[in-house]
Amino acid sequence: MTDYKCKESDIGKTLLEIFCAEGLCQPETPCGGKGRCGKCLVRCEGALSAPDENEIKLLGDKKGFRLACLARCEGDFSYQLTEQTEADIQTDFAGDITLNKATEGKLLAVDIGTTTVAIYSIINGKVKDKISFVNPQTAHGADVISRLVFAGQTGAETLKNELVEAIKPYGADTDYCVICGNTAIEHFVTGEDASGIAKLPFTPASLFGCEYQMPFAKKTYIAPCVAAYVGGDITCGAVASGIDRAEELTLYIDIGTNGEIVLADKDRALCCAAAAGPAFEGANIECGCIAHTGAVEKVWYDGGLKYKTIGNAPATGICGSGLIDCVSALLAGGELDETGRLDEDRYYLGDVYISQKDIRSLQTAKAAIAAGIKTLAAEMKKPITAIKKVIIAGGFGTHIDPDSACDIGLIPQKLRGRIEFMGNCAGHGAVNCALSEAERKRTEAFAKRLEYIELSGHKKFNQLYVDEMFFEG
Ligand code: FES
Repeated sequence: MTDYKCKESDIGKTLLEIFCAEGLCQPETPCGGKGRCGKCLVRCEGALSAPDENEIKLLGDKKGFRLACLARCEGDFSYQLTEQTEADIQTDFAGDITLNKATEGKLLAVDIGTTTVAIYSIINGKVKDKISFVNPQTAHGADVISRLVFAGQTGAETLKNELVEAIKPYGADTDYCVICGNTAIEHFVTGEDASGIAKLPFTPASLFGCEYQMPFAKKTYIAPCVAAYVGGDITCGAVASGIDRAEELTLYIDIGTNGEIVLADKDRALCCAAAAGPAFEGANIECGCIAHTGAVEKVWYDGGLKYKTIGNAPATGICGSGLIDCVSALLAGGELDETGRLDEDRYYLGDVYISQKDIRSLQTAKAAIAAGIKTLAAEMKKPITAIKKVIIAGGFGTHIDPDSACDIGLIPQKLRGRIEFMGNCAGHGAVNCALSEAERKRTEAFAKRLEYIELSGHKKFNQLYVDEMFFEG
């Protein structure tokens, strides 16, 4: 347990507010600290407010724990973040680094995700260190929209400072730093006005692809964005995957809160962002969690649901890959019909369960991504079968079972057997950009070549979205 000496100004603040203000490690907060998800568990004792009815209900039988967004400080206390808070963050990537032997000195490549931050420290042309942590901004909401709202309500400075302070310790003596993130996050970290991203016609203040003065490096390059919801993480990641040089039709998907999709061949390159919601990251799922020890990561059907957890620990939640497997297994076992109706209201995996409500959240998430893929193919006037390769990027993607993803229709069934996982492509792209000016120019050129397809109000997308809500029989 860590002791916390309370200051006068801490009295009445929630533990989450204190952790945030003090720059301390924080628990995951899928509901954005609104006291709804019950996931911000902290083991603690000491002078804290008594739990209210809502907290008692959310805590259930978890003795010795409090919820960081609800427990308020009344004096000194001791605390310990649970294992649930140690995110298993994907920093690895497939493929080669663009080695540039002429690159001397210290470089930094930073991939700021909505949920996690991955930092690569590069010394004399080689990645020496990979560090990852939960994005401190999760305290203001699990998704970008809540943070845009927060930024609009005087929170912009806080959002910038939190990221700058989180990156600064790794930046000492850095000559050049590359940052990639979604468009909103690139606005937050640079302090650009993000208000245009939150409202129609979704016009960002900047599309970046230029250098900034930031306090953690002599020069900092912010990766180029394409539109309000296709950011520098996608341009960096897509280029690192090689799709910008693909001869045959290739699909690149980064599955997260938003499913960003790129479809390209030698003639055209299209992209879109499908609002999947945070279901794949564990939010809006009753027992959902990020991929940590104890998370159900694999599920299969063998006369009933069988499962495996990360680290073979007792099940404490279901992460995105487990959720997709679970739905695939329920379909295989005939316990779930094509409309998404479960035979029973809950199916248990040890102490955790999947519910009818969870299936509905997953249906909307998978329908958004599948419809996004099909809309791009339709815009290209190509059949789905013309797609020769599917690249799935992102930490979450690495863990999913490709067959389960096809079974539930997240990836069209016709693309079964064509799926490749490339890990953290955005981080890979940021490293390449840090090492080479040619890679920065290549990424900028691809960002310019990409045609953005807006899905909201897109007739074809709306029609496909409704169709994709169903599970194929
Ligand atoms: S209940 Fe605290 S973050 Fe959701």
